[in-house]
Amino acid sequence: MKLKSLVFTAVALGLSFGAMAQAPIVIKFSHVVAVDTPKGKGAEQFKKLAEERTKGRVKVEVYANSTLYKDKEEMEALQLGSVHMLAPSLAKFGPLGAREFEVFDLPYIFDSYAELHKITGGPIGQGLLKKLESKGILGLAFWDNGFKVMSANKPLKTPADFKGLKLRIQSSKVLDAQMRALGANPQVMAFSEVYQGLQTGVVDGTENPPSNLYTQKMHEVQKFVTLSDHGYLGYAVIVNKKFWDGLPADVRGQLEGAMKDATKYANDIAKQENDAAMEAVKKSGKSQIITLSEAEKKEWKKALVKVHSDHADKIGKDLIQSIYKETGFDPAKL
Ligand code: LMR
Repeated sequence: MKLKSLVFTAVALGLSFGAMAQAPIVIKFSHVVAVDTPKGKGAEQFKKLAEERTKGRVKVEVYANSTLYKDKEEMEALQLGSVHMLAPSLAKFGPLGAREFEVFDLPYIFDSYAELHKITGGPIGQGLLKKLESKGILGLAFWDNGFKVMSANKPLKTPADFKGLKLRIQSSKVLDAQMRALGANPQVMAFSEVYQGLQTGVVDGTENPPSNLYTQKMHEVQKFVTLSDHGYLGYAVIVNKKFWDGLPADVRGQLEGAMKDATKYANDIAKQENDAAMEAVKKSGKSQIITLSEAEKKEWKKALVKVHSDHADKIGKDLIQSIYKETGFDPAKL
C-alpha cells in the first residue's frame, strides 16, 4: 500500500513537472495608453512577433489603458517583479532617481523626429538606458510618440494666456518648471485620471501628443488645442533585469529580435498616428485648433528657454551639451 502511494506520488509529480516544462513563459507588459496609439500598437506588435518567433514558448500579456497599473504603481511593480515589461514615458523616470531622462522634456530641444533619433538611436541614448541597470531595470529600446500640443478651455496663444491656469503634467520636474515659466500652476496627475480631471475642472488644461489627446477623448472636454510642438513625449521600453537575465538564452535572443523589429514598427507609425489623430480632433469639431504665428512661437520660446539653464545641474550639463552638439540646438537662438 505504502509502495503504491509512493509510486502514485512519483507519477503525479513527474506529470506536473512535465506540464510545467511545457507551460509558456509569461511576460506581462503593462502600459497606460489606448491600444490605438503608437505605444499601444507597438506593444501588440511585440506580442505578435515574440509569440511567433518563440513558437509559443513565450506568451505576452499586454495590459493597456492602465488596466493593470497606473503610472506610479507600474514602476514599483516592475522593480518588485510583479510585472515584467513597461514603456513609461521618458518624463516618468525622475522618481526612480534617473533625472537625466528629463532632458527629453526640455522645451523645444528637438525640432523634429530626425533630430531626436540622433540621440535615441545613438550612443547618448544607449548611455541613458545603461544608467537604469543599477536600479534593477534593463532598458531595451526607445519608442516614439510625438510632439506635444497644449489644450485648455481658453485659447492659449501667448504666455500671458497661461496665467493662473492649473495644468496637468507628468511627474517631471522639467515639466513643472516649463508650466511655471509660462505662468501656470502645474499639477502632477496619473494619466488615467486626466480625462476626468479635465471634465470636472480639477485641472484646466494639459499637454500631450495628439494621439493621446484624441484616444483619451480629452478634446471632448477641452475647447481649444494649440499646435505648439513645444516639447517631445516618447518612451523607454524597460524590463525587470533579473527576470530578463534569467530567461533561457535562446528565448532571450528571439525576444531581442522581436523587440528590435517592434521598435522599428512603432517608430515608423508614430508620426502618421499623431497626424491622423490631429485630423480626427479637427473633424470632430469639439475643439478649436490654434496655429501659432512665427512671432507667437518666438514668444513661447523666449519664455521657456530658461528652463534649460535652470535645470542643467539636475539633469547634467554635459548631457545637455552633448545633445546640443548632436542636434545643433543653440539656446541663444531661441
Ligand atoms: C502621460 O502621462 O501623459 C503620458 O506619459 C502617457 C503615455 O504613456 O503616453
